[in-house]
Amino acid sequence: MRMSFTSIFFSVFIGIGLANAQPLQDLPPGPLGQAIQNGHDMMMSGNTSSEVKLYINNSLNCSDCHINAGDTAAPGNFRDTASKFPSYSAREGVVITLEDRIANCFMRSMNGTRPSTDSAVVVDMAAYIAWLDKGKPIETPPSAGQPSPYPDMVKTASHADVTAGATIYQANCAACHGNTGEGAGPFPPVWGPHSYNAGAGLANIAKLAEWVKGNMPLGNPHLTPQQAFQVALYIDTQPRPDFVLTQHLSPHAPASDYNAKVREETDTVESNLRKDGLSLQSLTGH
Ligand code: HEC
Ligand code: HEC
Repeated sequence: MRMSFTSIFFSVFIGIGLANAQPLQDLPPGPLGQAIQNGHDMMMSGNTSSEVKLYINNSLNCSDCHINAGDTAAPGNFRDTASKFPSYSAREGVVITLEDRIANCFMRSMNGTRPSTDSAVVVDMAAYIAWLDKGKPIETPPSAGQPSPYPDMVKTASHADVTAGATIYQANCAACHGNTGEGAGPFPPVWGPHSYNAGAGLANIAKLAEWVKGNMPLGNPHLTPQQAFQVALYIDTQPRPDFVLTQHLSPHAPASDYNAKVREETDTVESNLRKDGLSLQSLTGH
């Protein structure tokens, strides 16, 4: 069970006390304000919350990737998130809601069980994310994101890039995340059995590169785009749990609870690379 590093980080560097115990400012009064605060707190420390823990099967908190519960300018933020739902998701092949999107991160990034979109856990988290966007117009359809250089780099990825990525990892990341990616104490794992699974957003090399470029090393993100790509390639060629969709849906929920046309999906480290036209064997050389 890990405590959130963000709380230490923000209290030391910004001096606001324990961030995950910090009351949010200007909340609406009454039960709505309480739901927003609770949604925020569960994202900061889901792994220590009896309400959320049931749905989580690794050692991550939402805020490990959505830093400071998404209230930053960096990749993974929740600014302009609520205002772009409902929106079409190619992964599920249907239009999804913010609640669907939250529930889906539980079964992929948290390697856990998909909560019902009607559960208090999901509703409170949605209330918090919606509150961050207060006053913003709903965008239907959402505007396209910034063009990314990473998909092109991925196409030509080589064994030399993986080797360079390992060197970058040792020099810039291993001090916190460990030589073998397992993390320790407040530092979350980046691969291995307690990390995000192969169906998660960060299991996509281009998305991981984008995220690392803007967020890591924590407090001092300074890698060049090429270095961010190489270290992302290195991390996403390491072992992590497979994703078999049917194993992450609650056996108690009716099938209609999962809003998707795609009912079967299996992802592994190897199959993700194959989707990008790459071979695990030639990248890692064994
Ligand atoms: C291992 C990292 C990781 C963890 C942990 C994680 N997420 Fe995510 N999440 C992502 C990534 C990456 C994306 C964007 C994926 C994409 O573009 O396909 C995302 C997208 C989202 C979005 C949509 C954001 C937007 O603006 O489109 C929501 C909402 C969300 N996550 C909620 C959560 C919640 C709630 C939790 C905890 C239960 C959580 N996530 C845990 C990595 C993570
Ligand atoms: C100073 C310690 C530190 C260093 C150095 C560092 N990280 Fe992190 N990293 C963290 C912490 C702490 C979190 C969780 C953030 C939070 O909870 O606010 C994190 C989160 C992450 C995550 C998302 C959560 C997960 O475990 O999957 C990834 C991926 C990641 N780091 C990759 C890297 C990479 C790549 C580097 C090197 C370029 C790096 N980190 C360097 C401390 C560090």
